[in-house]
Amino acid sequence: MSSLPKIFVAGATGLLGGRIVRALLDQDAPVRALVRPGAGEERKRALTALRADGLELVEGDITDPAERLAEAVGDATTVISAVQGGPEVIVDGQANLVRAAEKAGAQRFIPSDFAVDVTKLDDGDNFMIDWRRQAAAASAGTRLEVVSVLNGAFYEVMTGFMGLIDWEQGTLSHWGDPDQPLDLTSVADTAAYTAAVALDPAATGTLRFAGEVLSMRQFHDAVQRGSGRTLRLRHLGTADDLRAEITRRAALTQNPFDYVALQYQWCMVSGKGKFDTLDNARYPQVTPQPLTDFVRAAAPAL
Ligand SMILES: NC(=O)c1ccc[n+]([C@@H]2O[C@H](COP(=O)([O-])OP(=O)(O)OC[C@H]3O[C@@H](n4cnc5c(N)ncnc54)[C@H](OP(=O)(O)O)[C@@H]3O)[C@@H](O)[C@H]2O)c1
Repeated sequence: MSSLPKIFVAGATGLLGGRIVRALLDQDAPVRALVRPGAGEERKRALTALRADGLELVEGDITDPAERLAEAVGDATTVISAVQGGPEVIVDGQANLVRAAEKAGAQRFIPSDFAVDVTKLDDGDNFMIDWRRQAAAASAGTRLEVVSVLNGAFYEVMTGFMGLIDWEQGTLSHWGDPDQPLDLTSVADTAAYTAAVALDPAATGTLRFAGEVLSMRQFHDAVQRGSGRTLRLRHLGTADDLRAEITRRAALTQNPFDYVALQYQWCMVSGKGKFDTLDNARYPQVTPQPLTDFVRAAAPAL
């Protein structure tokens, strides 16, 4: 039986949450993973495939009444949230999870932040990051120790969702100064750092990690080396041009998700969401993967 404290993970069926569960189990930490009753079968199967001695699955939703959710948290000492969703999940749901964690007697809470430096941004810079600051404000009086883990942008997002790379056209498009440093980390390394933080009783405040800090020029070079492909670097405009493009698109749609990828890019290429310091050295046991190696391994699927 493990002597490590039990960790509760909400969002365990998700991209990051599943990797956090795996990283904790790799450290022999006992894990209680919250699974929504309606969770997709494939997502549930991926988690149950991990079924190890230390893994308990518990059904529930972070919007459940706090009494019931507290039972789900059980005897876990640290609660990690890796949920994703709208304000009902990120703001109200996480505030409810904090209340439940308090009722259950937990000591620490790691919110679903996992982004660029949320503390340096202002309302309106990125609506999804605004929700994270609202969530922090909603739980400001908690007796739990809140430890926020920040990772910059996922390698997976930079080479996929952001829409920077067009493999068919052979281009890598970007906004802003090509020499502006950007904080980048893979999902697996973000999970490894989060597990390290969860198992570190002395961790407090906001901790910032990056697998690599690369300018767009260096990112371009790493993607080319990793993929073995030549990509033309296309400059789309300055960071101010990008801000104007976001304003233009926002006026054309009711759905902010139409331009959220641009908001994330602006937070990075403007330098506003850049980490001033890194906490990688706190956990030397985590050796983050270089972007080139990530792209080399992922290239066939990209
Ligand atoms: N820095 C970056 O580049 C970057 C990129 C992507 C994500 N992130 C961050 O990483 C975190 C996790 O994102 P992700 O991409 O891993 O999300 P995801 O794959 O969409 O997974 C979201 C998880 O939240 C769960 N969930 C949603 N609503 C819930 C509720 N009411 N109660 C309980 N569980 C609920 C989902 O459960 P079901 O399986 O039941 O739906 C799922 O397990 C978020 O904070 C996100 O912003 C950062």
